[in-house]
Amino acid sequence: MKVKRMKLVVCGKGGSGKSTVAALIARELARRGRVLVVDTDESNFGLYQHLGFEQPKDFMLYLGGKAKLKEILFRTKGRPEADILEEFTLNDLPEGFFVGDEHLKLVAIGKIHEFGEGCACPMNVLAAEFLRKLRLRDREFVVVDTDAGIEHFGRGVEASCDAVLVVIDPSYESVMLSKKIAGICESVDKEVFFLLNKIDEDSKELLELMDGSKVVGVLPFKRELFRACLRGEPLPEIEEIPSVVDTLLKWSSK
Ligand SMILES: Nc1ncnc2c1ncn2[C@@H]1O[C@H](COP(=O)(O)OP(=O)(O)OP(=O)(O)O)[C@@H](O)[C@H]1O
Ligand SMILES: [Mg+2]
Repeated sequence: MKVKRMKLVVCGKGGSGKSTVAALIARELARRGRVLVVDTDESNFGLYQHLGFEQPKDFMLYLGGKAKLKEILFRTKGRPEADILEEFTLNDLPEGFFVGDEHLKLVAIGKIHEFGEGCACPMNVLAAEFLRKLRLRDREFVVVDTDAGIEHFGRGVEASCDAVLVVIDPSYESVMLSKKIAGICESVDKEVFFLLNKIDEDSKELLELMDGSKVVGVLPFKRELFRACLRGEPLPEIEEIPSVVDTLLKWSSK
């Protein structure tokens, strides 16, 4: 199979399984090339544990922290295309601002740590800029974990990515959100895929509500996944994931 490069954004409703799926896909992609996971969720802290890593330092600190970043954004009038970073490759990630190894790395753009520290807008702008300036070579992949909902679309986080993977759990809200996201993606000519997650016998009819041609996988509810997440342990191997990655790679090499 011809394998190319890809920046993939994982999104969906709160609690649908975005971080779990992002970690599983990233780990599988790391068997086919080099992978950077970009954590753009300012609220949740679990992703590094799913990958078996230490918690990374906020990338935002590389620019001097949130106050400094706000200053830069003020100077550039908060334009989404603000030139905050130079172009860079996976080899140029600043030491101390990522965790992982040669095959699989994680960067966390920034987290909310304190009471009253202000909104997450600067982090979202930085996330969009980071993804825009990162240049990939063949067999290099980026997997972006996002916060719940669609605010990141408004901030342009998806703008420089190739495809969007919507994680859909069996709920009305997930189905509605996936339709909304598919509509947004279509309007900007961005490829969208669906992964149905936490499926059990009762939720099979979810498939009938989806555009089947966009479904890259169906992940059952797995006790071992749930337990590993609860304990903050690295995620176990999940047999459905390699074929999800095959499908994504087939698309990316077109
Ligand atoms: N296929 C699955 N089987 C069992 N449990 C799952 C599965 N996928 C996700 N979970 C569980 O669902 C919960 C939410 O998962 P996760 O944190 O990945 O969701 P999220 O969409 O990233 O949430 P948030 O919106 O808070 O970022 C976790 O407890 C996780 O263990
Ligand atoms: Mg999450």
